[in-house]
Amino acid sequence: MEHRSAAQRPAILVARRIFPSTLQRLRQHFEVEANDADEEWSPPQLIERLQGKAGVLLTGTQRVDAALLAACPQLRIAANMTVGYNNFDLAAMDAAGVVGTNTPDVLTETTADFGMALLLAAARRVTESERFLRAGQWTRWTVDLFAGAEVHATTLGILGMGRIGQAIARRAAHGFGMRVLYHNRRRLDPAIEADCRATWVDKGTLLREADHLMLVLPYTPANHHIIGAAELAQMKPSAVLVNLARGGIVDDAALAQALREGRLAAAGLDVFEGEPNVHPGLLEVPNVVLTPHIASATLRTRQAMADLAADNLIGYLLHGRALTPVNHPPQPRA
Ligand code: DGY
Repeated sequence: MEHRSAAQRPAILVARRIFPSTLQRLRQHFEVEANDADEEWSPPQLIERLQGKAGVLLTGTQRVDAALLAACPQLRIAANMTVGYNNFDLAAMDAAGVVGTNTPDVLTETTADFGMALLLAAARRVTESERFLRAGQWTRWTVDLFAGAEVHATTLGILGMGRIGQAIARRAAHGFGMRVLYHNRRRLDPAIEADCRATWVDKGTLLREADHLMLVLPYTPANHHIIGAAELAQMKPSAVLVNLARGGIVDDAALAQALREGRLAAAGLDVFEGEPNVHPGLLEVPNVVLTPHIASATLRTRQAMADLAADNLIGYLLHGRALTPVNHPPQPRA
């Protein structure tokens, strides 16, 4: 471990509450201002706390844009504790010479597990039937009590086939005997397709042929409402839709209407437009499983995400090399 005096050590901000062990490790290298109270700072409050800081560890809810970069001239790296980085304005970060990092790989399998959990829970009406039981409404067995949709040996459509999409495909194909179709901007290498037992199709075919559809694509302006009323209308009325990706990818109002009108069997949603607010229409329909953005939330995985974000700060600010950068500014800030 390098020993530097307080005056020599770079100052960083840890903008959300994280694990004590990660904080302790960061304190061995940096002057750390931590948000132990886990307050949700407004953009001006974040800017205020970033004064004099060379790095920040943050989550996907805090934007790093041109205004913040101009107001924080000493900032050199923004380390997200998330794999998604739609909170970064990458063009502005490149122009300002600020590196952004994310936390790929460490959450892949955990998030894929949760995708299957949401699919199974929505298809097999797990939470809906639990509410019924808890409400004391279960008085007798009936032949079609909470009869749901089949999952095994059906066709799973995956929109977005990065690491998490591939991990879901492997579970679905190898574990549940599902036929897997996917759509992605780029077709996967044939060896990866074979490993995932997944077939590339165009988006229209995916929507029409999938018995169930899993969304795992990154949010970009081009992907805003990529699943809206028109796309929902192409899906099978017996289908289950799972959104693990980001709010804004699905038009939640259109989805609520499709669920209410029985044009879609069910949905499993971990992310929402404008979260933590949830479209009121989604709260009113019984055939949707709603979870508060917890797909990567096991303690081991969240610890690994925090550690990787910390390693990015240590690697870049002390050794000039980030582990998992998402951009490469031509002229990094010194
Ligand atoms: C991610 O890592 O992007 C997850 O969605 C958690 O925010």
